[in-house]
Amino acid sequence: MWNGGLQNQHEIMHKYHQQFGGIFKMNLGAFKSVQIGDPALLESILRHECIHPKRMEIKPWKLYRDYRDEAYGLLTLDGKEWLDMRRIAQAKLMKIKEVAQMDAQINEVLKDFITHVNRVCDEHGRIDDLYFELNKLSYELICSVLYNERCGLLQESCTEDALLFIQSVKKMMDYLGPLIVTPADLHKQFNTKSWRSHTEAWDNIFATVKSYIEKRLNSDCAQKDDLLNTIHSEKSLTKKQLSGLFTELQIGGVETTANSLLWLIYNLSRHNDVQEKLLNEIQTVLSPGTIPSADHLQKMPYLKLCIKESMRVTPTVPFTSRTLHEDTNLGGYLIPQGTIVMINFHAMMWNNDYFPDAQLYKPERWMKPRSTVNPFACIPFGIGKRMCIGRRLAELQLQLALCWILQNFQINATDMEPVKATVSTVMIPMQKLPVAFKKR
Ligand code: HEM
Repeated sequence: MWNGGLQNQHEIMHKYHQQFGGIFKMNLGAFKSVQIGDPALLESILRHECIHPKRMEIKPWKLYRDYRDEAYGLLTLDGKEWLDMRRIAQAKLMKIKEVAQMDAQINEVLKDFITHVNRVCDEHGRIDDLYFELNKLSYELICSVLYNERCGLLQESCTEDALLFIQSVKKMMDYLGPLIVTPADLHKQFNTKSWRSHTEAWDNIFATVKSYIEKRLNSDCAQKDDLLNTIHSEKSLTKKQLSGLFTELQIGGVETTANSLLWLIYNLSRHNDVQEKLLNEIQTVLSPGTIPSADHLQKMPYLKLCIKESMRVTPTVPFTSRTLHEDTNLGGYLIPQGTIVMINFHAMMWNNDYFPDAQLYKPERWMKPRSTVNPFACIPFGIGKRMCIGRRLAELQLQLALCWILQNFQINATDMEPVKATVSTVMIPMQKLPVAFKKR
């Protein structure tokens, strides 16, 4: 672990699954776990799912909230409190029709993003830090939907406050791994650098979200159909709970969407044939200058396959977990209640038995009849009652973003050497992506 294993855990775990099979147990620093990398076992877990399933607790996050007397959100809550908050938020976020209505807002941000890309590209079409620019995009996207707020990050002069949020999320994520594998309370007790940095990052994150909430709720703007006002008007959550919920929605929505889009750009840059076919589909549905809508996307099946395949071959989130609420038989082993089961999406999605040539990007592989693909083998948004609440929104954002980008640019690889990934809560490229944007 100390020799880089934490950053390389996706590859190490993948090898272990090849060596030991779909299930094995493992001590990971402070906690013991059972690792699963087999869709059939995942199906068994789902069959035993209780009314409020639990992931492994993110102890450092909870410690911070208790220390500063802040509320928990969907990523940190469990039990009935989680279920109550989840029902409130998913009434808007998980309904396809509700989310489809956000297309115009998303397009406004994307229009600015295209102008921004033109501005930040050098004369060869390269962007110095593409990931950071995509983080700005995803930040604008999520704030627009949550609070109807534009933060100016895609303008030439952007506010320090909003940049602080993105940087704080990255910093918090960087310190999270070490605080999970060695007891977080010890870090807190000895006020280690990891604890101090993690606390400082969270202070900035909460302060930013609270200022958005205050501003939006006190605004006298007539249009009050953003998620914050919708939930606030139901009066089912206190102000403190609202800040817990929105902080974690914002956290969930920034890094993940940017990261998925980054890998999508990477995969397309290396597959001109796919890019051409996709552009052809987009141009068949959208005449020149047409702004894509949620309705247009219904006529673009290949676009969805390109995204799905990118999330399979280069997943943003490599693992999730469940804490078993009862003794459970998994693959012939009786696993005791309370055990943490790590569900390794990455190992499943890279399994050649389910996906021949699993490490190759081939959207066409999804064209075969649905019944021949195991539905549990590729689940980049997780599964069951605790699956990603932002899934519908993220899919719409990625689909629209891809239309805008390909309508305006050809994406070229400037170097065909494979780019390795490392894990910092999400899977990130180990180097700046060698891509260039050529104006169409
Ligand atoms: C949970 C992936 C976008 C908010 C999750 C989980 C995954 C995931 C794997 C864990 C699911 C499980 O344990 O079964 C992704 C990916 C995204 C994305 C790959 C982008 C491509 C978003 C967005 C939001 C969001 C846009 C905010 C609107 C959340 C929240 C949870 C979650 C709050 C916890 C849900 C709960 O426990 O009830 N996400 N996510 N995510 N995600 Fe996302």
